[in-house]
Amino acid sequence: MPVYNLKINGKSHSVEADQDTPLLWVLRDHLNMVGTKFGCGIGQCGACTVHVDGSATRSCLLQVSNVEEMEITTIEGISEDGSHPVQQAWKEVDVPQCGYCQAGQIMSATAFLNENKNPSKSEIRDAMSGNICRCASYNRIERAVEQAAS
Ligand code: FES
Repeated sequence: MPVYNLKINGKSHSVEADQDTPLLWVLRDHLNMVGTKFGCGIGQCGACTVHVDGSATRSCLLQVSNVEEMEITTIEGISEDGSHPVQQAWKEVDVPQCGYCQAGQIMSATAFLNENKNPSKSEIRDAMSGNICRCASYNRIERAVEQAAS
């Protein structure tokens, strides 16, 4: 099996995997980074969102063979202790209900706020619209993104 050299959260990792293994499985099953969640596996829900070279990306759709040399950031790499302003806002607003989708939500929000420091409500709604939440925490997500931006 081929070996791939990945850069994840600033560290190098060598992973032996079939070339079409989704990055999501490499993170969860090979590297035990289980903060990134499996929801649908077909790019529809956003639970598996990570950053690839700074952009929010669905890790279930990315083959490990296509992400060598790219900077991958997972929820574990956002901060060591939950102190990132987006994570702080999430806690203050008390966003999660079941919590399952929230890592993906936070990864989408952080990538968005890196690009847009002063977003309007409708820009926040647009940016977050690809991340599904079965508990419908959308209003709290919107408030937390606003709070993190302020
Ligand atoms: Fe990747 Fe749903 S698990 S988008």
